[in-house]
Amino acid sequence: MTEPDIKKGLAGVVVDYTAISKVNPETNSLLYRGYPVQELAATQPFEAVAYLLWNGELPDDEQLAQLRLTERAHRAIPDDVRTAIDLVPLDAHPMDEVRTAVSLIGARDLAGTGSVLDASGSAEQNLERSIRLFAVLPAIVSYGQRRRRGLEPVAPRDDLDYAANFLWMTFGEEADEVVVDAFNRSMILYAEHSFNASTFTARVIASTLSDLYSAVVGAVGALKGPLHGGANEAVLHIFDEIGSAENVSAWLDQALAEKRKIMGFGHRVYKRGDSRVPTMKAALDTLVEHYDRPEVAALYDALESEFVARKGIYPNLDYPSGPAYNLIGFDTLTFTPLFVAARVTGWTAHIMEQLASNALIRPLSEYNGPDERHIDGYVADTAALAVADRPEEAAG
Ligand code: COA
Repeated sequence: MTEPDIKKGLAGVVVDYTAISKVNPETNSLLYRGYPVQELAATQPFEAVAYLLWNGELPDDEQLAQLRLTERAHRAIPDDVRTAIDLVPLDAHPMDEVRTAVSLIGARDLAGTGSVLDASGSAEQNLERSIRLFAVLPAIVSYGQRRRRGLEPVAPRDDLDYAANFLWMTFGEEADEVVVDAFNRSMILYAEHSFNASTFTARVIASTLSDLYSAVVGAVGALKGPLHGGANEAVLHIFDEIGSAENVSAWLDQALAEKRKIMGFGHRVYKRGDSRVPTMKAALDTLVEHYDRPEVAALYDALESEFVARKGIYPNLDYPSGPAYNLIGFDTLTFTPLFVAARVTGWTAHIMEQLASNALIRPLSEYNGPDERHIDGYVADTAALAVADRPEEAAG
């Protein structure tokens, strides 16, 4: 028998078409619906990029105003969702809060909608659900950080754009323009990245004709892992461990001797650098200057240059975004929930794309367990087996 060609981790396997984004490792580029992500980050508010991912085109002024109206109307956390978040232990990971909140929002929204046969919803319903999740996630994420600090939630402000309001709800004060701009860019860079693990998870769930919320809950779970979204948090732990630029060489000697993975470096697709890093590094540089924290840039540069020189492995987006979020004032544990707030746009765009031309995602595996064996003393009921072999009789 010939050995099957197993693609562990689905590496290199093309499983479907997508019109949402194009990752090109050869040219280190990332396009959302055809637009280079760095151009979008430099020119667009996050709301416009969300619209682009969902609808395929950037909004005109009226379309953007309409989206903003709906988004602003759904920013507040419903009381029972807040109560559910409060049930999550304070020392649980905030991704568990986010997962719980999305799950309850889904159950509330779908209550009374009938059987599982209707779960997947129409394209219009799913776009509406996507906008509402996008609108409420900043309040969920910022409330998580505030309750961990023993603070009450801050009500959303409907005179502020998405990014400025997100920072307002987290810190209870208006952020400076340069901070809002850096944060807006990070949201755009995190929004979408083709068939990454969490997006693929969402598409697998959507492909069973389950509902959009279940697909997003699954994606949140996939994103929590340190090999995926959890890496931005892990970068900060590494920075804390190293302390300052002078310690990088010695720290790296030991980490590599222990065969540790250096978080924030390496990528399954990009092998010569992540297309999003230069834009996020530029945003980090503006924050370093704004907060006057040159030592952060020094540690960043020292670790990057030593690791690249020794291993030829380049930083991914989590490497600059971790320290950027830290400078803005987000707790390290909040970083991956921030990623959720951004990536929910990409996930939901993919869920809708999957449903628009669905095929159940169900790969094969090659069995390598024990050969067939039997329970001692078990005597097969040959009469029942004979009927099972003739299903028309069993059914009749
Ligand atoms: N630190 C140290 N070594 C690394 C590394 C890192 N961050 N990333 C890759 N490598 C090494 C691996 O140990 C492996 O070496 P080997 O061939 O001697 O065993 C080789 O490079 C290939 O890595 P592999 O893990 O097989 O590649 P992958 O495509 O499966 O992994 C990641 C991609 C992202 C999972 C991996 O680079 C990683 O774990 N990075 C750190 C976590 C991270 O930043 N994730 C965010 C991704 S956006």
